[in-house]
Amino acid sequence: MRDHAVAALDAVSRADAGDSNGRHALPTDFERLAERAVSRRGFLRGTAAGGATAFVLGAGGMAAMPVRAAVAGLDFTPVAANGLDTVTVPEGYSWHVVARWGDPLWSDGAPFDHATRGTGASQELAFGDNCDGMALYTDGGHSVLAVNNEYTNLGIAFANRESGKPETDDDVRKSKATHGVSVVEIAPADGAWQIVPDSPYNRRITPDTPMEITGPARGHELLKTAADPDGTTALGTWNNCGNGRTPWGTYLACEENFNGYFSSSDPDFALPEGYKRYGIKAEDRGYRWAMTDERFDVSRHPNEPHRAGYIVEIDPLDPASVPKKRTALGRFKHENAEVTLAADGRAVVYLGDDERGEFLYRFVSDGAYSEGGDNADLLASGTLSVARFADDGSGEWVALTPATTGMASQAEICIHTRQAASAVGATTMDRPEWVAANPARAEAYCCLTNNKNRGVKPNAGGDATPVGGPNPRAKNNYGQIVRWRPMGGDHASASFAWDLYVVAGNPTVHANAYAGSANLNAGNMFNSPDGLAFDSQGRLWIQTDGKYSNEGDFAGQGNNMMLVGDPATGEIRRFLVGPRECEVTGITWSGDRTTLFVGIQHPGEKGNSHFPEGGDAAPRSSVIAIARDDGGEIG
Ligand code: FEO
Ligand code: CA
Ligand code: CA
Repeated sequence: MRDHAVAALDAVSRADAGDSNGRHALPTDFERLAERAVSRRGFLRGTAAGGATAFVLGAGGMAAMPVRAAVAGLDFTPVAANGLDTVTVPEGYSWHVVARWGDPLWSDGAPFDHATRGTGASQELAFGDNCDGMALYTDGGHSVLAVNNEYTNLGIAFANRESGKPETDDDVRKSKATHGVSVVEIAPADGAWQIVPDSPYNRRITPDTPMEITGPARGHELLKTAADPDGTTALGTWNNCGNGRTPWGTYLACEENFNGYFSSSDPDFALPEGYKRYGIKAEDRGYRWAMTDERFDVSRHPNEPHRAGYIVEIDPLDPASVPKKRTALGRFKHENAEVTLAADGRAVVYLGDDERGEFLYRFVSDGAYSEGGDNADLLASGTLSVARFADDGSGEWVALTPATTGMASQAEICIHTRQAASAVGATTMDRPEWVAANPARAEAYCCLTNNKNRGVKPNAGGDATPVGGPNPRAKNNYGQIVRWRPMGGDHASASFAWDLYVVAGNPTVHANAYAGSANLNAGNMFNSPDGLAFDSQGRLWIQTDGKYSNEGDFAGQGNNMMLVGDPATGEIRRFLVGPRECEVTGITWSGDRTTLFVGIQHPGEKGNSHFPEGGDAAPRSSVIAIARDDGGEIG
């Protein structure tokens, strides 16, 4: 097993030396990594226990971590874990709030009302709730931020209702308007980035915004509804989690837990077979959208759930543009969409499906990207594949086609993608969250956030979840980050070599596999990696969405956080700690790289935060800006 892994990594390194696209000119690092992976195999602290297999490890084996060495050129003193109700950043850095849930984007919008927490009308003119993935675009001198508004915490948004849930038609209108995407121009004024009210760029995209359905599933029987008998036009997007940005300047919003908004008014309605794998059920889960919008009543419109769960492409600089649902990139619980280019210029999009035991996907476009050319429909057609990882450190991408899956058509594969991937024996993963591609060399990383069912029970499709490969621990409640390097240095290659960049854990509680990899220590430990992005200098930023109890298995880990890692050495340092009960998610930079924008999602989701305003204020998901006090670049 060890020899196979070495052979796979060496083959990648050799191929990289002759990399044809010239973008990955630093091949020797990976050769060193390969050697380290071998020399440190069996690296587990103590002995393997708890159902763990030997880890296929990457750069984690730094026995003595320097206290103040820079992470690939970013020198800062790491932040200690804490449970404060504020944002903590390193000495020499400052932060401020840019946009909060309920902030009006237009001057005729009402300021946020802490007592009522807004109305349908005020929310439709305001920044959405629970900010997640985001990207900043520049247009001339303008900075335009596109931000996903993933969902809303009912108990916070409807704290004015005794039930803590939407009760009236207007409550549902408000709930829908908390969702979608906020596009907002921001500008520095009085030393802080602020919303530019009434900017012509400002736009709210909601669950009611008309969208075009593109790709293989366009017009398929399963997508036809009473309101759209052609199956070509859908209304809206919701539960947009991570994001993507394309080299041609568009924004990708990724529909994740789309299922939770549907319900059935007919208790006897027989749910279609295809619903089960996606968790579409008859019972309302509290949103009550079907109460005012019959699209969400599956007994009346059973094809509506087939029209969600896609990647949505948006032109953030054209408020009149019609967003496009890209069925070619599959239908599942999309996390983010990391776009890079193959050696021949085709667009490559890595895609995670965030559910226990679901899969990691890759899309490769049919056409090639042309700088300055027409790339508008590059994501309309291509090859969708799913990852199969072998325990020996090698892996392959298996194309999902009628021939490989036995399914009737590409359209059906793009609608029932999970079932297609199960049919080819894809590797069940520990909840793939964000993927990030290294701009300095052909490799990509994916957060596998956690999976309490690993080694315990199969996924929703009945696929086994054996302990091993990139999912090395049973009942995995800490998570890990897997990375892979495509054969030949080409992201369109059919095969890859993989290892684990970091295995999260708690070395102060455990002395076995649950302590984590050797690049994790008492000073930088974390659980549940989720958001992930490279900066322009090749540093890896890691955001967490994990347990913040600060006790038991999570003792000493404090609130959710953001860390920065060095891909070459494996060093990881904690850069930021978020406020209480938040998730840190979403990351982007100003055009001049002196400001880092970060999302603080759902502070106080269990009732114990007043971030950011303090006092008795309602907790509000916020985008914050972080800068160096000396004005230098931050990524
Ligand atoms: Fe919305 Fe998988 O996080
Ligand atoms: Ca996430
Ligand atoms: Ca998560």
